[in-house]
Amino acid sequence: ALAPAPAGPLAGRHVLVTAGPTHEPIDPVRYIANRSSGKQGFAIAGALAALGARVSLVAGPVTLPTPPGVTRIDVETARQMAAAVEAALPADAAVMVAAVADWHVADATGQKIKKRADGVPPAIALAENPDILATLVRSARRPALVVGFAAETQDVIALATAKRVRKGCDWIVANDVSGDVMGGADNAIHLITEDGADSWPQLPKAEVATRLAARIAEAIA
Ligand code: CTP
Ligand code: CA
Repeated sequence: ALAPAPAGPLAGRHVLVTAGPTHEPIDPVRYIANRSSGKQGFAIAGALAALGARVSLVAGPVTLPTPPGVTRIDVETARQMAAAVEAALPADAAVMVAAVADWHVADATGQKIKKRADGVPPAIALAENPDILATLVRSARRPALVVGFAAETQDVIALATAKRVRKGCDWIVANDVSGDVMGGADNAIHLITEDGADSWPQLPKAEVATRLAARIAEAIA
């Protein structure tokens, strides 16, 4: 049987969401990662789907269930995430929640690195990853609304305001990660737009997602 056409303010809209960390291999058994749990991004993808959007969720390695109504594309590295984002276009909006690793290991080996008899540790050379958000903003297929995230531990509003301009995105959700937000159930955020900063109270991540999805629906519906 055919599923009923989705209803809601975002019906007929396609929204791209990135979420989670990326893993950057050192060798076949080791990787560089970060502390993102993916919870906030998955909650946002679910909230957008609940408003009727077709949602493509490009997810780094996380242990979370796929929210109802969301199409999930699993990736491991930043370079794979960049390719999956490109393949998911066009979209009416993009919400880039992923904590993308800034670097990958330049000379990742196909064999496990072994300890040396002389005790000298291996040197790990890094190379910069593609900036997925900046690439999307400059792309000919730039979504009408591009939302970035910025996790900061100090001067949150000032740094995020500068980042919005530097990255060329429409909004930045500035995340104060000086407390125990990473992996936790709550989030304290400031929504930075061209009109300035709107500071939200500390809220459960699901509530942040619902409010942000409603703002996105207002902007593009
Ligand atoms: N981002 C991205 N690709 C990258 C790095 C970041 O798409 N290679 C996106 C993130 O998903 C987020 C935004 O850019 O939406 C800001 O990420 P952040 O790490 O705060 O910014 P950076 O430019 O990497 O700056 P910093 O030196 O503060 O890490
Ligand atoms: Ca970064």
